[in-house]
Amino acid sequence: VLRQLAFASRARPGLRASETSELIATSRSNNARDHISGVLLYTGESFLQIVEGPEAAVNGLWRRLLLDDRHHSIVLLFDLAEDDRWSDGWRAGYVSEQQLASPLLRWRALGPSLPANEVAQLRALCETTSTF
Ligand SMILES: Cc1cc2nc3c(=O)[nH]c(=O)nc-3n(C[C@H](O)[C@H](O)[C@H](O)COP(=O)(O)O)c2cc1C
Repeated sequence: VLRQLAFASRARPGLRASETSELIATSRSNNARDHISGVLLYTGESFLQIVEGPEAAVNGLWRRLLLDDRHHSIVLLFDLAEDDRWSDGWRAGYVSEQQLASPLLRWRALGPSLPANEVAQLRALCETTSTF
């Protein structure tokens, strides 16, 4: 059984591009090591991430995330036990704040247990966004 969770957060004001690239590089190598897959979207102001993997690995990541001062206002959107992976690997990408603002407002209000149709919309947004 895999644990899959999604959260939204806000970037620390003044977070530099170099800090973001470092965060992405660390995440990519840790996640490969920990068998964590998913998608991280960043607008310059907001983060939206889905992560999935073995329970213990996702627990550990969630604990580190809560202590990370590069973001704040972290809200759990959903937290599910899944039989199959939703994503092959881990990817990160930029989205405009404008594109994310209105769904994020709705999802933040519905967390930590988004209804199934909203979970599907969130996954679809992450799936269709081009990443690097
Ligand atoms: C928005 C956001 C998303 C993050 N995503 C991940 C992630 O997917 N995997 C990961 O290992 N660390 C992620 N981090 C970084 C962790 O909070 C933590 O700094 C890092 O895992 C520590 O790794 P280290 O012990 O190798 O330095 C993220 C941080 C932020 C602010």
